Order: sequence, then structure tokens, then C-alpha cells
Amino acid sequence: MLKVDLKGCGTFVKNADVKEYTDKALAAFDTLDRGDGQGNDFIGWKHLPSETLAGNIVKECRAVCDSWKERKVDLVVAIGIGGSYLGAKCAIEALNHTFDANMHRGDAPQVVFAGQNLGEDYLCELIDLMNERNVACIVISKSGTTTEPAVAFRIVKQFIEHKYGKAEAAVRIVAVTDQARGALKSLSTQEGYRTFVIPDNVGGRFSVLTPVGLLPIMAAGFDVEKMLKGALEMEKVCAVRGEENPAVQYAAMRNLLYGKTGRTVEMLINFTPKLQYFAEWWKQLYGESEGKDGKGIFPASCSFTTDLHSMGQYIQDGNRILFETLVNVEKPLRELKIEADEQNLDGLNFLAGKSVDYCNHMAQLGTKLAHIDGGVPQLEVSIEKLDEYNLGQLFYFFEFACGVSAYLLGVNPFNQPGVEAYKKNMFALLEKPGYEEATAAIRKRL
Ligand code: PA5
Repeated sequence: MLKVDLKGCGTFVKNADVKEYTDKALAAFDTLDRGDGQGNDFIGWKHLPSETLAGNIVKECRAVCDSWKERKVDLVVAIGIGGSYLGAKCAIEALNHTFDANMHRGDAPQVVFAGQNLGEDYLCELIDLMNERNVACIVISKSGTTTEPAVAFRIVKQFIEHKYGKAEAAVRIVAVTDQARGALKSLSTQEGYRTFVIPDNVGGRFSVLTPVGLLPIMAAGFDVEKMLKGALEMEKVCAVRGEENPAVQYAAMRNLLYGKTGRTVEMLINFTPKLQYFAEWWKQLYGESEGKDGKGIFPASCSFTTDLHSMGQYIQDGNRILFETLVNVEKPLRELKIEADEQNLDGLNFLAGKSVDYCNHMAQLGTKLAHIDGGVPQLEVSIEKLDEYNLGQLFYFFEFACGVSAYLLGVNPFNQPGVEAYKKNMFALLEKPGYEEATAAIRKRL
């Protein structure tokens, strides 16, 4: 079961402040629980684990994967950006063999991503890959109008239609989008694509437990039912009001460090390389939910021990604006011991008989103590191991804590007005119809 440990913050905070922020977090919990806070038309994610397990979505995703299996599909291109990309990307990175791209085994197709950038070389190289493989595509966009995935989809759709014909393309392409609105919805209806719905009351960054995440994760060969069951356990834990609620504890402490100690940057850290993209998912969740109205903790990340050899100096000794949240994986899935060596030329015999993970955990503990000594508080969120069940717990825990934390901070957790600014400029510069005035105005600035 997921656990939160706040002992690494003890020397940085006063008991009275912990009490004050716990009370604030409980009030924010009540707002989320009652569903009467800002953005309350976007809290459908709260019951996604229980509702999805009770419904047919997993079965429907399986039907799609089975039909691709019959066709011997070996490459699924998942197209999406932001919340329509990061959940699936981080889950597949966390659960996959590290060297899957080099030594793909298993019988599930490889899932690769597109639409999360506008890199011309990226898309040309994707075409190179698709040319060698048996391809299907999942196109994901809640609004159905986002430029990056729309551009990638036009290219992948044309490729699939050209290679397999239009009728077969309609089986190989599946869309995940709004139930009624947007260009992707109308295009899918017209082309006869199978579509999955992103519920109206679930925003992109809270959508990993909808078909947005479940379909690509299942396509890559992972057990999404197990993931939903892990999330369900957290749905139950997080629903209980009280100081013991791990989401309340995490939300209270991070806001206390921010509000009272000037720690304006939170670094999500791990000692498990497969969690690198989990941090990307978390950064979007917290950055888009809290960074508004001139407020919010800046979410950053590091993967250790790798980044101790690049960012370690700053963390230990630089501007004291940081705190860390460690995602601690208690046990690895496999074991590897360091053997004794008769010659001991590398001087490592003191580690003989120890596992690599033991060394990693000593590095973790040593880092924690060093960073605390250097003035960096550390929160810890632990899971037992990195599998579907525990990943489901992490997803739900951080989503729920995010809702509580943003309400505590006093912002609407569920909108992202700031994301529009670059889009307006881009459309003006690309001369999109309807942007004529903006085009003229922006040209004068160049
Ligand atoms: O969290 C969000 O709402 C955003 O990151 C969106 O997911 C992202 O902008 C993609 O939007 P869409 O799914 O509408 O293409």
C-alpha cells in the first residue's frame, strides 16, 4: 500500500504550522469532497477507478487489441499531447523492459508516440519506422482540435490509408475524443472509426484512467484491470477524511514548505530509472493545475543517481528554494548480486554479496541525509514495487492530492487558461483563417 513519510521535513517546519496547514488541507478536502469548488464540473476523475471497473470500457479496449492481434499489428502509433499523451507514455515506460526498443520480445505490439511535438525529422523518422512495420493508430484528443496531434494524425492517417486501403484503415485507426464535439469526432464518424469517449467531466491531465491511457497501455501488453484495482484502493483511502489521509498529508506539507519556508520549487525525484516519465506526467498535473494567478510551486524533476552527477551540486549547495518529493520503490522486480572477484582490482569486494538495489537504497538514504543537511526538505511517497497495481495507486494518489493542494492554494485546479497564449500567436503566425487581425498585429512585433 502506498505510504507518505514526512519525517524528512521535520527540522524545517514548526508544529503549529503543520497544524495550520493540515486544517487548511482538510478544508480543501471538504471542498473537493462536496464538489462545490472552482472547476467542479471537472471532477469526474474522482470515481473513475470504481466506475470503470464496473463498466465495459476494459472489455471494449480488449476487443480493439484483439482485432489488431488477429491482423498481426506490431506497431501502434499513439497520437496525442499533454494529458492525451503523458499518462500512457509514463505507464509504458514504467512497465516496459528498459531496452524494449532494442530487443522487443513479448507478442504485444510496440507503442510509439506522435503528435506531442512538431518535429519534422521526428515525423519523417516515424514514417521510416511505419514503412517497416504492420501499423495501427490510436488518435487521442479531447477537444479534437489541437494542432500538434492533428498534424501528426493527418500524416499517419494518409500513410495507413495508402498502405492498407480506406476500409482497412477504418479498423486500424481508433479515436479517443469528446462524445459530440470537435473535428476529430466528426472526422471519425465520417470515416467510420471506432471511438472511445473522454468524459466531459474529466480534464486531459486527469484522464490516464480513461481510454486515453487505458487503450495504449493495454495495447502495449499491460494489465489495465490491475492498474484500475490499484487506483481503486487509493480511491477508497483518499476518500476518508482525516489527518491520516496520505493526500491530505502531502498537500498540507508541500503548501507549508511553499507558504512558510520559501521553498518555491518541488523536485520529484526517483532512484528508479523507469520513473523518469512518471515525473513528466506529474509535472503536467501539478504545473497546469496550480501554476496560475501568479501562484504555484514550480514542479521540476531529477532521476538519481544519474542527476546527482549533474544537478547534485545545485541541490546540495545552491539557492535554497527547493524541496524534494521522493517516489520510493521499495523492491525491484528482479535481483542482481555483486559477486566477489579474486583480484579485486576495482576495490569493490566490500560490496560482494550485496544486491545492486541494496547499493541503490544506500545511495538513496545517503542522498536524503545529505540534502536535508544542505537545507532541502524531503517528502517520501513509497510503493512496494513498480507494477500495474502500484502505478495505479500512484496515479490516483497524486491526482487526488493535486485537487486538495490546488484548493488549499486557492486556485481552480481544473482549468489551464495560460496554455492558450502560445496557440493564439502560433495561429496568427500560421495565418489560420479567422486570425487575420492577430496576424497583422503580431507581424508588427517581429
Ligand atoms: O491537461 C490538459 O487539459 C491538456 O494538457 C490537454 O490534455 C492537451 O492540451 C491536449 O488537449 P486535447 O486532448 O484536447 O488535444
